[in-house]
Amino acid sequence: MDVLAELARHRLVPVVVIDDAADAFALGDALVAGGLPVAEVTFRTAAAPGAIRALADRGDVLVGAGTVLTPGQVDAAVAAGARYVVSPGTSRAVVERCAEHGVLALPGAVTATEVQAALELGVTTVKFFPAGTSGGAPAIAALAAPFRDVRFVPTGGIGPTNLHDYLALECVAAVGGSWMVPRDLVAAHAHDALRTLVADAVAAADALRPLARA
Ligand code: 3PG
Repeated sequence: MDVLAELARHRLVPVVVIDDAADAFALGDALVAGGLPVAEVTFRTAAAPGAIRALADRGDVLVGAGTVLTPGQVDAAVAAGARYVVSPGTSRAVVERCAEHGVLALPGAVTATEVQAALELGVTTVKFFPAGTSGGAPAIAALAAPFRDVRFVPTGGIGPTNLHDYLALECVAAVGGSWMVPRDLVAAHAHDALRTLVADAVAAADALRPLARA
């Protein structure tokens, strides 16, 4: 499977902070029910590897790891079943370890210098983080002018009110964010609330960029 193409097909990447890996299966249910079987589980909690494994084992959620800062975390993420690895910035060590595992790396870059550094590592799709405080959609559009083959996955400060600004840009592969999967609702197994948030995000994305059926 072309993981990047699949993320782009879904257009949205729910960014998950999970406190207990035992909550992951119920989260998966809500994601699938909401029509967005995708999750980026961040290494901001110790539960991340277990949660990635629980989601990967379901077989119906495209699961990746987020907030990956070290090669050791890449190893842990891939061992748990992560199909892609997202980092807030660009680390040569992390990108190279991803390449060794043959797993998609989405390192962060928000300046022309950072995008060039990512390109030198063979990366052509970068996370644009933190999007809201780094110039937002206009900054991505400006970067896309010289970097015509680079695609961006903006995250950070994105929600229902500004999602369209980002999805309107052709160079945006997908938009990430935690607004679809609030940490407290995940911990509470609030299936209906999570499913509604996810479905609302999918509907908003559909309005601008219809889902290409596989
Ligand atoms: C990330 O790790 O991608 C961001 O922290 C998500 O940002 P958000 O919580 O503002 O959506």
